[in-house]
Amino acid sequence: MAKMWAGRFQKETDAVVNDFNSSVMFDCRMYAEDIQGSIAHATMLGRQGIIPQDDVHKIIEGLQGILADIEAGKIHFSPELYEDIHMANEQLLTERIGDAGKRLHTARSRNDQVALDMRLYVRREIKEIRALVLGFMHALCEVAAKHTETVMPGYTHLQRAQPITFAHHLMAYANMLKRDVRRLDDCLSGMDALPLGSGALAGTTYPIDRAFVAEQLGFSAVMDNSLDGVSDRDYCIELCADLSILMMHLSRLSEEVIAWCSWEFKFIELDDAYSTGSSIMPQKKNPDICELIRGKTGRVYGALTTLLTFMKAIPLAYNKDMQEDKEATFDAIDTVKNCLRVIAPMFRTMTVLTENMKNAAKRGFINATDCADYLTKKGMPFRDAYKATGTLVHYCIEQGKTLDTLSLDEYKAITPMFEDDVYHAIDLSTCVRERRSIGGPAPDEVARQLKVIEDFLAAQ
Ligand code: ARG
Repeated sequence: MAKMWAGRFQKETDAVVNDFNSSVMFDCRMYAEDIQGSIAHATMLGRQGIIPQDDVHKIIEGLQGILADIEAGKIHFSPELYEDIHMANEQLLTERIGDAGKRLHTARSRNDQVALDMRLYVRREIKEIRALVLGFMHALCEVAAKHTETVMPGYTHLQRAQPITFAHHLMAYANMLKRDVRRLDDCLSGMDALPLGSGALAGTTYPIDRAFVAEQLGFSAVMDNSLDGVSDRDYCIELCADLSILMMHLSRLSEEVIAWCSWEFKFIELDDAYSTGSSIMPQKKNPDICELIRGKTGRVYGALTTLLTFMKAIPLAYNKDMQEDKEATFDAIDTVKNCLRVIAPMFRTMTVLTENMKNAAKRGFINATDCADYLTKKGMPFRDAYKATGTLVHYCIEQGKTLDTLSLDEYKAITPMFEDDVYHAIDLSTCVRERRSIGGPAPDEVARQLKVIEDFLAAQ
């Protein structure tokens, strides 16, 4: 098949080279954006008197027909026929409407076109990802709202540390996701400028109206330099960086769910619909979804590394290296969307084993800080109270006891400042209820945290 750029060439492209060079297999997913951009461009060309209005009507009608046929599955984008989606649409158009189709590419280059299409595509996908993140935040809030009183151990170094609630733990993730949304919004606003009109690299001699095209396509500005316009892929890198951070959050949460599902923790049980079995071990119920999310995080980091690496040595302006932006960015987008689609319902349907959480909280001396604080509040300097409590813990470990099961005499043997009210002070529910500082796990305080996130969600 003769290429669109056939004039200068005496030979056909080698078949292997053709497949190597062609991107239509993956960039065909931008078909709608390519058509949308071409319609805006043709409309502008007509308004500026650069091409006849009559041709503009034919072009728009032709492109709409192609769009309908693509959506009806009537067009097969094979690399034997088309190099990329931009050539494919122009070729199809010219086959359908003849000379008018050949006028579409006036005052435009493919570098221009791919810069636009990718921007439009990424913009649309960011909005979808954003909605999925919000959906997951909703799910976390729903579960958290039911567990503001569910005491569990909080950990540092994966050692039981101080008592918190399950709601408090989940709201930590809701806050991370809120920042992810802010990052996505920032990416959207940073990329909100039209590249089209940059030409191949050096603009054009035609009297184009870039502001009109920007308005047609929903951009609030036009890119200010044509070399930058055709070779900027910052927004793909920014998006992949944002998605890497988002995946890091999902991966940390997945890691925790995996641990919570184990017999060692048994804090939650996943719904059967959101877990998998073993081919040989009949008893197994595995948190495969979480393991996949944890694993796929590496894939998204890989996309970021791919983009940063191939972009770092590209001279101005467009170079074909940039075609590598597609598969990496698309894969990162698909991966994140798939992960968000499974993790939200997995959370909504899981069973929280509150008794197991509470029992775990009872072991590991997680009320030791509260015991020291008790003495401090009675007047002992904190460092001394810390030491006295440490001695008590050591004594408990030797005697196989807990702070709650020590007798008052045993307490008093350490310091007579201990009185009967120590049992109330170190009771786990007291420990949680009294941690009322902003950001703390006290039920009222977590209810406030929940409201902050719920208000944020309601404002979207
Ligand atoms: N398929 C190309 C890409 O994805 C489109 C731009 C090609 N331009 C060029 N002059 N070869 O980057």
